[in-house]
Amino acid sequence: MPSTLHQPFVRRLAGSQVPAVGLGMMGMSEFYGAHDDAESLATLHAAFDMGLRHLDSADTYGAGHNEQLLGRFLAELSPAQRAEISFATKFGIDRPPGTYERHIDNSPAYIRAACEASLKRLGLEQIGLYYLHRRDPSVPIEDAMTALAGLRAEGKIAAIGLSEVSLQTLQRAHAVHPVAALQSEYSLWERGAELEMLPATAAMGIAFVAYSPLGRALLSAALPATQDLAPDDFRRILPRFNGAAGEHNRALVAEFAKLADTWGLPASQLALAWILNKQAHVLVIPGTRRRTHLASNWAAGQIRLTTEQLTALDALFAPGSVTGERYTEGGWVGIESPRG
Ligand SMILES: NC(=O)c1ccc[n+]([C@@H]2O[C@H](COP(=O)([O-])OP(=O)(O)OC[C@H]3O[C@@H](n4cnc5c(N)ncnc54)[C@H](OP(=O)(O)O)[C@@H]3O)[C@@H](O)[C@H]2O)c1
Repeated sequence: MPSTLHQPFVRRLAGSQVPAVGLGMMGMSEFYGAHDDAESLATLHAAFDMGLRHLDSADTYGAGHNEQLLGRFLAELSPAQRAEISFATKFGIDRPPGTYERHIDNSPAYIRAACEASLKRLGLEQIGLYYLHRRDPSVPIEDAMTALAGLRAEGKIAAIGLSEVSLQTLQRAHAVHPVAALQSEYSLWERGAELEMLPATAAMGIAFVAYSPLGRALLSAALPATQDLAPDDFRRILPRFNGAAGEHNRALVAEFAKLADTWGLPASQLALAWILNKQAHVLVIPGTRRRTHLASNWAAGQIRLTTEQLTALDALFAPGSVTGERYTEGGWVGIESPRG
């Protein structure tokens, strides 16, 4: 039975009401093959024109390139338009440009310097939502939060977020200063957050921002074979996309694509709609570099699924159905979420 379209889902994020479908900008700078700034900017403008109001960046994406792109886009808007956008950036991953090796730093001095550098690249006086991207266990979270609260008091950031932290860290942080958003990987093929973090953030009134909601494109059922991806494509090294695990997961996604087809939906839209229909406080930030995918992802915010459809998807992607870890050994550095 085809699903019907409704008003877009709307969520609360850092004091604003925004459509639940946002835009992840990471691929506009690196990780998923070649990028094209002209098409990226056209995609950002198209996103604004269709009503999308939540953009996600980080200082580490393209070693500052992503924030510069975001700053360029925001500068092309009028002040009134700019004020409508909830944009986020992140700090904490110190990475030599072009490499995946990472040093995590949450020290107060680093946080201040990173914030100043991001503001400069963005060309702005204030960052909307500022996330601690990864945890540095040598710095108590209370110290990092105190530094962030100081930046907020000075007006350099408007709200504080945390990414990929444990529930205990989130609770300790929230006791120092309210946390506006928690960002972690969440999708049909990464459901670890359902154990603790999704119910806890709902209870604490913290927005949950689901990253890689399309399983880094695998859930679109349109991703070329891993060996055919660009030589520098990050998915070439991720366990879930490779070897026997990759084959197993692609077979699972083929079953998913059949269901989507039966229901008259593109697999990518069904993957996003599953998240939005299940969790009332979750926002999605599907990443795309191009307008065609943007329009399709945006439309997912209007799809209402039935209980039967949700149950069928839950069963297909039941715990244990996906094989392989979601990160390499190096990629787990600074991640406190349960490993899987
Ligand atoms: N906090 C963190 O640690 C963290 C980690 C990773 C990502 N993130 C954030 O989350 C955002 C989203 O995650 P992600 O980009 O890793 O993964 P994703 O959104 O699950 O997937 C992105 C991939 O899917 C493709 N795609 C997008 N829409 C599509 C569609 N409708 N049909 C087919 N393919 C489609 C994109 O290619 P095209 O560009 O060709 O469309 C890209 O290769 C990032 O951009 C970033 O802002 C945060």
